[in-house]
Amino acid sequence: EEIPWSAEMATKGGYAHFMLKEIYEQPESLATTVAGLEGLEAAAASLLSARNIYVVGAGSSLHAGLVFAQLLLRIKATPVPVVASEYAAYEPLFDKGDAAVAISQSGETIDTIKAVRAMRERGVRVLSVTNVVGSTITRESDVVVYTRAGPEIGVAATKTFTTQVATLSAIYAAMLKALGYDTAPMEREIKALPDLARKAVENTAGAAKDLARRLKAKPSAYYLGRGSAVPVAMEGALKLKEVAYIHAEAYPAGESKHGPIALVEDGFPVLFVFSDPNTREKTLSNVAEMKARGAYTIGTVPARSDIAKRLDYAIEVPESGELAAPILHVIPLQLLAYFTAVERGYDPDKPRNLAKTVTVE
Ligand code: AGP
Repeated sequence: EEIPWSAEMATKGGYAHFMLKEIYEQPESLATTVAGLEGLEAAAASLLSARNIYVVGAGSSLHAGLVFAQLLLRIKATPVPVVASEYAAYEPLFDKGDAAVAISQSGETIDTIKAVRAMRERGVRVLSVTNVVGSTITRESDVVVYTRAGPEIGVAATKTFTTQVATLSAIYAAMLKALGYDTAPMEREIKALPDLARKAVENTAGAAKDLARRLKAKPSAYYLGRGSAVPVAMEGALKLKEVAYIHAEAYPAGESKHGPIALVEDGFPVLFVFSDPNTREKTLSNVAEMKARGAYTIGTVPARSDIAKRLDYAIEVPESGELAAPILHVIPLQLLAYFTAVERGYDPDKPRNLAKTVTVE
């Protein structure tokens, strides 16, 4: 029997698409990133001495930044999340004594670069988190911490997003350490990320594929969460829009009754991200509220919890501590977007209207 072969298949390592390959590469890219982290102490010291910390990025990089901004609040560091393209609104704040964390996979996103330039002009110290050595952003930053996800070919950010979150979590742990906290448990959790991510990919791919078949004909979906699950929901919704062309809206679950629930009718898919243990009960009451309007309720839930039985469809994610949870819960959402795109007949590697890196304003 002849084995079909093409050069393109070889570069995809046997996977049908780069996006799927890159989702499956996450355990490895997390391992390389975590092992290669450098300069964390200097980064932590610079952030701890800052008055405001601007957390800047676009798209998925912004979502990684929003996960980080929530962590900063806990240690009373003052994060100011800045959507890169909207930096101008924050310009009056920029001052010496402030610091910024600029997050960009490519290091070439024009909006993020412009924000960095405007901040540095006013004396803000810039720490960038990027995946590309020698990229423009690295040349315009005071300190650089690299993610080591390896090249990402698919337009959708997958392994670069999870390695950003891992890197930012390590910076947060370094800040806590400098403040005198015992960070050994967090460090263990960060080291365990590759194994946990491997389990997340392996344990959720089947359910994500099955769910994709149920969602493929839906015109629209909500992605909801509370607390640290909000940016994870935003990232999941972005993936679905980007590659499967299904309208997906993410917002904090508590906002439902302030308007969005008006759209919900029989079979409307509402996906809840249960990555934040502190907001579980309140999120469950939002599930009940959606069910009462006939919504098709879906959730990414920690394995061995009893949340699954409160939902129409649950995807079980490996149990973990709080730092790993956003990374683990986004994995089934990446897979869901991928399989839904394929079910709908689209090429997830080349979504229409999108470029991998946006270099013009
Ligand atoms: C995510 O899937 C997108 N491709 C996009 O939102 C991306 O994250 C954004 O354009 C930022 O790119 P960067 O990280 O290279 O700056």
